Amino acid sequence: KSSSNTYIFFVFGASGDLAKKKIYPTLWWLYRDGLLPENIIFIGYARSALTVEKVFQNCEKYMKLQDSERDLYKKFISINSYVSGSYDNPKDFQRLHNEANKIAKEETANRLFYLALPPSVYGSVSELISSNCRPKEPAWLRLIVEKPFGKDLESSNNLSKHLSKHYKEEEIYRIDHYLGKEMVQNLVVLRFANRIFSRVWNRDSIAAIIIIFKEDIGTQGRGGYFDEFGIIRDVIQNHLMQILSIVAMEAPRSTKGEDIRDEKVKVLRRIQPIKMEDVTLGQYVGDKNSSNEEHRKGYLDDEGVPKDSKTPTFAQVVMHINNERWDGVPFILRGGKALNEKKAEVRIQFRDMPGSMFEVDGEKTARDELVIRVQPNEAIYLKMNNKRPGEMGFRVEETELDLTYNERYQGVKLPDAYERLILDVFMGHQINFVRSDELEEAWRIVTPVLSEIDDKNNKNVNVIPYPFGSSGLQEAFDICSKYDYTYS
Ligand code: BG6
Repeated sequence: KSSSNTYIFFVFGASGDLAKKKIYPTLWWLYRDGLLPENIIFIGYARSALTVEKVFQNCEKYMKLQDSERDLYKKFISINSYVSGSYDNPKDFQRLHNEANKIAKEETANRLFYLALPPSVYGSVSELISSNCRPKEPAWLRLIVEKPFGKDLESSNNLSKHLSKHYKEEEIYRIDHYLGKEMVQNLVVLRFANRIFSRVWNRDSIAAIIIIFKEDIGTQGRGGYFDEFGIIRDVIQNHLMQILSIVAMEAPRSTKGEDIRDEKVKVLRRIQPIKMEDVTLGQYVGDKNSSNEEHRKGYLDDEGVPKDSKTPTFAQVVMHINNERWDGVPFILRGGKALNEKKAEVRIQFRDMPGSMFEVDGEKTARDELVIRVQPNEAIYLKMNNKRPGEMGFRVEETELDLTYNERYQGVKLPDAYERLILDVFMGHQINFVRSDELEEAWRIVTPVLSEIDDKNNKNVNVIPYPFGSSGLQEAFDICSKYDYTYS
């Protein structure tokens, strides 16, 4: 699109947690693997007076450096610079702009700005970048923003309005890193390239759908951030609802980004706001008997967390899609920290086999269930009934048709979500980024219950304690049964 083939990648918040754990390591891996354009430079920006060496000292342990890569790594560091400045003074942004032109030796380098910043400064930083740091035409500018995009419908709309004053939608890349995961990207193919799934993907055949996010770590010192948001804003409103919209959408007109995003928004529009009665909340407490030291600490022991916090670290919400395809099918979204394992998966449970001749004493055969395991160990498997092999007669037993990736696709490297998404930004592909109307719909659906949960005097809100390392809240499992999801 542009005549220049020089690129400047700016990392705002270069000294912060996200930059150190994710952004710099991702840039290094992309550079190491030769996936970035040749003429590229990187500029870190933050308030502290640092040097490039300091920035890289901070990140080094996340870089997974091999000895043989040392020379290349040095070369990578040599094309990095660091500028310190405020997040609200136009003069600092002008200085950054001039500095960038000087380092790039031209004014028409394409510019990518990654905002790895606290939400409180998004507004001023995005405005000041737009008014001071734009390259000369025909070069382009792209802004990559990280969640949280607001805290509720109103604040998110305000942020969107603000961004749209200063940027065109084609310039804004709202990251939801779940959209960069292999199995999430695969959902479109699974659904729309397989007749056996496309024909049964509806209320006639499906009893319930569960989308699960589990983590086996607590807030690990991120309590200060987390407490302001809670698990619904942290993973459900974004990661899990993004998955939901792809699982539930109608067939897009094509694989083009805009066609897919159009369908995702359309299905979100058919979801009613969640009701409090469909919400189960929990907060982890230390398990005093655990041999694992981390498990002995509860959420309230995290330094950043107020001692009387009621912020949920576990939530399950049930959503209802009011359209012809999904009427009556519960979509259960469950996310929790400090549980017994790290796992993200989608479970599509089919209805009972009608008029089954294999029913024994009223005992039904197990339901078929399609499981898409997003992580770890990517897999798709179909739980189904089979004759127990080698036995006389019809002994039905549940087994699996199993497509486990590391067996079927041995040796295929699945890129990290951030690597994929950053490359998408270079290429100008917005398909795996969140459009402002999607964002608005997602907030509309969760905002009413969030405001109830945030209201400290609300007697309807019951945050149930669960021990670190448990598999989840029994109360949540009970609701699943009520909604016709059965555990086998
Ligand atoms: C982030 C959340 O968006 O996703 C974190 O803020 C969470 O709380 C993380 O730990 C999980 O990402 P992943 O890729 O490890 O599943």
